[in-house]
Amino acid sequence: MTSDKVAPPGVDTTRPSIARVYDYYLGGKDNFAVDREAAQMAMQVTPDGPEAGRACRAFLRRSVRYLAAEAGIRQFLDLGSGLPTRGNVHEIAHQVDPDARVVYVDNDPMALAHGRALLADARTTTVVGADVRQPDELLAEMRDRKLIDFDQPVGLLLLAILHHLHDDDDPAGVARRLIDALPTGSYLAISHFYDPGETQPEVSAKARAVEKVFNETLGTGRWRTRDEILGFFGDLELIPPGLVPLAEWHPDGEEDTRQTATYHTIVGGVARKV
Ligand SMILES: C[S@@+](CC[C@H](N)C(=O)[O-])C[C@H]1O[C@@H](n2cnc3c(N)ncnc32)[C@H](O)[C@@H]1O
Repeated sequence: MTSDKVAPPGVDTTRPSIARVYDYYLGGKDNFAVDREAAQMAMQVTPDGPEAGRACRAFLRRSVRYLAAEAGIRQFLDLGSGLPTRGNVHEIAHQVDPDARVVYVDNDPMALAHGRALLADARTTTVVGADVRQPDELLAEMRDRKLIDFDQPVGLLLLAILHHLHDDDDPAGVARRLIDALPTGSYLAISHFYDPGETQPEVSAKARAVEKVFNETLGTGRWRTRDEILGFFGDLELIPPGLVPLAEWHPDGEEDTRQTATYHTIVGGVARKV
């Protein structure tokens, strides 16, 4: 049986949070009964929630490794970074270059408290509390605190975050503001809930059903069309194989993520600013 730990200040344990529900899917301990209930409700529609979470983390690992090892990226801006877990961005980047810099950004009090305790170090890694829906303020803080050098290529990570922005939050506008700030040679990685629509009607129906549960419990979660998700990359150049189910992006055979119900409803891609 899981026993709830004491919540850090500012953490509301009466309402589920995205960061903590995701932590539950990943087998973490930074979640409360209300988060587990929300996760279980979604799992009644898509029982492979934990596998989907692991597939998201495996995509994060492969895309960060690609950016560090193949693309030579040495500074990462990870927006909606979540609670610390196995295989954090700086750990992957540091396997390639121990001096690679990572800025973790989230707006969840639990993710920030645990992130500051476990992720931040004085030399290469910083945890910042900010709202992705206010990209200009966020970028100004990066510049003012000299956390990111916007004269050097940046690895911008929007992993499992844009689908938690409502259409009214203008996620395309948010992505555009962020991309505009990046110098040539930068990269953007996105993973996103996907609704295949008419091309796969049964999968689409499942996406709609779980979208309903997410919105009733967490208040967010949008399964967008391929064109909507591609639009977030703006005019960046997608690296082959393009926008694909997570497991199909540069598979390395390292992790067994047997997504079933969600295989075709979460996609990812990486693109370069040329
Ligand atoms: C599903 S988790 C993804 C974690 C990590 N990026 C990954 O792919 O494994 C989404 C994270 O985005 C954060 N988030 C949601 N809305 C946000 C916002 N408006 N500003 C900053 N962070 C946000 C949540 O708190 C959560 O930690």
